[in-house]
Amino acid sequence: MQTRIEVGILGATGMVGQHFVKFLQNHPWFDLKWLGASDRSAGKPYRDATAWRLSGAMPDSIAGLLVDECKPGNAPRLLFSAMDASVATEIERAFADAGHVVVSNSKNHRMEPDVPLLVPEVNPDHLKLIPSQQRNRSWKGQIVTNPNCSTIVLTMALGPLKPFGITRVITTTLQAISGAGYPGVPSMDINANVIPYIGGEEEKMQQETQKILGDFRGDHIEPLAAKVSAHCNRVAVVDGHTVTVSVELSAKPSMAELHAAYENYTSVPQQRNLPSAPPRPVIYMHEGNRPQPRKDAERERGMAAFVGRLRPCPVLDYKFVALAHNTIRGAAGAAVLNAELMHSEGMLD
Ligand SMILES: NC(=O)c1ccc[n+]([C@@H]2O[C@H](COP(=O)([O-])OP(=O)(O)OC[C@H]3O[C@@H](n4cnc5c(N)ncnc54)[C@H](OP(=O)(O)O)[C@@H]3O)[C@@H](O)[C@H]2O)c1
Repeated sequence: MQTRIEVGILGATGMVGQHFVKFLQNHPWFDLKWLGASDRSAGKPYRDATAWRLSGAMPDSIAGLLVDECKPGNAPRLLFSAMDASVATEIERAFADAGHVVVSNSKNHRMEPDVPLLVPEVNPDHLKLIPSQQRNRSWKGQIVTNPNCSTIVLTMALGPLKPFGITRVITTTLQAISGAGYPGVPSMDINANVIPYIGGEEEKMQQETQKILGDFRGDHIEPLAAKVSAHCNRVAVVDGHTVTVSVELSAKPSMAELHAAYENYTSVPQQRNLPSAPPRPVIYMHEGNRPQPRKDAERERGMAAFVGRLRPCPVLDYKFVALAHNTIRGAAGAAVLNAELMHSEGMLD
């Protein structure tokens, strides 16, 4: 049996940190041994430092671990980061400089040219940026990021369509309240309401999509030369981000070709049987009123994207709806799958 790899979490006491703790329970490759947070939490057992907000109990095996400061020294080499964005830049860099592999969910480094913004099914080759990252920064370690929770839904749904030449995309999101962290949006604002603004989200969706669907060119990513326009809305849904998409494709494929692209879609994580990879990364639903967040987001352990309602678009070429679980595939599960891909590439040896 292979030895499990010790891992830690930067920002373990926060909302995303708790999702990491939960997702890593019983992981076949990764053994959670270290928890980091601010000096407000350092020195306390995890159970005392953390207001556990997820469904199910805090795992017993983790509850008694002492929380450490987020300073290089005692942490395992592989660290998942759920750091508060106001401090993530310096802390993640300090760990990478000290030789750690930082697999981050924070936004801070995503758009840096030498940092992979990874969706393992869509752009696994973007990991080839790491040698230039280490050269540029004289780091022994490295930083790899996963996208924003709405971008991941869009890019997983567009991934199978990339061979048809994506030239224009218009997308509207219906984003769950869990994506705003805790306590998030006040209940008086969100109940029976839609909030048509999420700060910075539209810009993130547009830029991250172009990077993720772009091509690796030696030491940088050539962004996808497509125009992407995003409208982002917060809706009264607990978990699961829905996006509606209109897309223009230069190859002008038939509807049957698009259906076949979704049905046949598979990628490196599936071929390598990575532990958190869903057997089918994108599941096309033929029912006319699906996918729906309450019914579908948690299927496939929250790791698949669901697509439906593919039909002609009178403005661009086609339109459809897509959905994925924002705190699993859009956060902790995404980062864990990134690390699994890296391990399968020998990058954690
Ligand atoms: N919430 C979401 O659904 C979501 C989705 C996608 C991405 N994100 C991103 O994920 C990151 C974490 O979000 P969150 O909602 O989990 O935030 P959060 O609940 O506020 O947790 C922040 C974490 O950072 C730690 N921290 C704060 N200041 C620190 C410092 N100076 N030194 C070391 N640790 C410090 C906190 O520790 P203490 O408990 O000790 O303060 C806590 O563990 C953010 O970058 C956010 O943008 C969040």
